[in-house]
Amino acid sequence: MNLETRFEVDGDRAAVRDIVTAAFGQPDEADLVDQLRAGSEPCLMLVAELDGRIAGHICFSPVRVAGAEFGGLAPVAVAPDVQRRGVGSALIRAGLESCLDLGWPAVFLVGDPAYYSRFGFVLAAPLGFGYGEPYFDRHLQVVELREGALQGLAGRVLFSPAFGQTGTG
Ligand SMILES: CC(C)(COP(=O)(O)OP(=O)(O)OC[C@H]1O[C@@H](n2cnc3c(N)ncnc32)[C@H](O)[C@@H]1OP(=O)(O)O)[C@@H](O)C(=O)NCCC(=O)NCCS
Repeated sequence: MNLETRFEVDGDRAAVRDIVTAAFGQPDEADLVDQLRAGSEPCLMLVAELDGRIAGHICFSPVRVAGAEFGGLAPVAVAPDVQRRGVGSALIRAGLESCLDLGWPAVFLVGDPAYYSRFGFVLAAPLGFGYGEPYFDRHLQVVELREGALQGLAGRVLFSPAFGQTGTG
């Protein structure tokens, strides 16, 4: 099994759309990826190739909190027939490294802590960060890629407009 990650190129887009749609069982997240790509903000997109075939995709877009910019991880998707072989983990680890290179010293996401804690993510609410909706507040997580990156910061984490984030607080 040969697993590699690399930056997405234009020719990957159709395969990425198929994989994201299949992974989530609906097109909404693939539409989100398309919207993030088409938006004005710089996004980081990586694909994973398993034995030469595109098997997974990850997307990072900017988030803002208290005037500072960080990365936001969403969505990550792996083709259903090759899940649980480390593709998602490889994408997350490679993506976090690239975020630091891009100048994002921390990364936020909304997801299942049981999965993301293995990559160093911790719940963000106890650190003083919120999403603005109770369910999302409970699932908001963050990892510091540079020690102290979040020091002195707290507040509402604003994701890219493509996420349609509503609510306040
Ligand atoms: C979540 C996802 C990206 C993981 O990719 P993957 O290549 O299967 O993950 P890996 O092989 O690196 O890791 C597999 C491990 O993650 C665990 N895992 C996967 N999804 C999980 C979840 N939602 N909660 C807890 N653990 C999870 C598996 O149980 C497995 O654990 P184990 O190694 O202890 O058996 C993939 O399952 C997927 O595309 N799911 C559908 C889309 C989705 O839910 N994306 C995440 C939300 S944006």
